[in-house]
Amino acid sequence: MGKVYVFDHPLIQHKLTYIRDSKTGTKEFRELVDEVASLMAFEITRDLPLTEVDVETPVTTAKSKVLSGKKLGIIPILRAGLGMVDGILKLIPAAKVGHVGLYRDPETLQPVEYYVKLPSDIEERELIVVDPMLATGGSAVEAINSLKKRGAKNIKFMCLIAAPEGVDVVKEAHPDVDIYIAALDEKLNDHGYIVPGLGDAGDRLYGTK
Ligand code: PRP
Ligand code: URA
Repeated sequence: MGKVYVFDHPLIQHKLTYIRDSKTGTKEFRELVDEVASLMAFEITRDLPLTEVDVETPVTTAKSKVLSGKKLGIIPILRAGLGMVDGILKLIPAAKVGHVGLYRDPETLQPVEYYVKLPSDIEERELIVVDPMLATGGSAVEAINSLKKRGAKNIKFMCLIAAPEGVDVVKEAHPDVDIYIAALDEKLNDHGYIVPGLGDAGDRLYGTK
């Protein structure tokens, strides 16, 4: 079964409070999502493999470490996942970015896929699927299905806020996928919104309604 990690670093918790606040406007919301995505990227890359190299310092030759060249891919679920991409790329600028476009039908809450564009070598990459919200889990499950159908083997899922219901759905459908969360909230409401949550992530990021 996939593991669930909650990144409850004080900086993440602090910023998340303002992300949740309905008084936070679009500009600040976007900046905060970007910052939390960077902080989460720092945590999620903790286990990246290193290799030893020689480096000439001004004083002598030192043994030192560099990333061993593991190939990474960031896969935002459109549209709200896009808000997390730049923050992650600040830390891992060489990562390739693929896109999976899904929206949740407001009546059925079922995900509808409308766009997929991925790096050609996704089967060799360690992929991080990103979306601020994991609610019913339908979108995350469908995005991961879409990646696996195209050959992806090594997938992590990262979000800001998750509902317990969604976490269970993803764990059940994709037991090989670890889930990384900034906050695990209480529940879903009757409209499939996370409680207390932050409202509609896409609308708050892009100022739509
Ligand atoms: C939101 C969110 C997730 C999805 C989560 O996207 O960004 O993708 O809902 O809900 P689920 O876990 O119940 O599937 P939305 O469908 O509102 O599309 P948007 O990003 O284009 O606004
Ligand atoms: N999508 C969102 O943007 N917010 C929620 O609370 C649930 C799904």
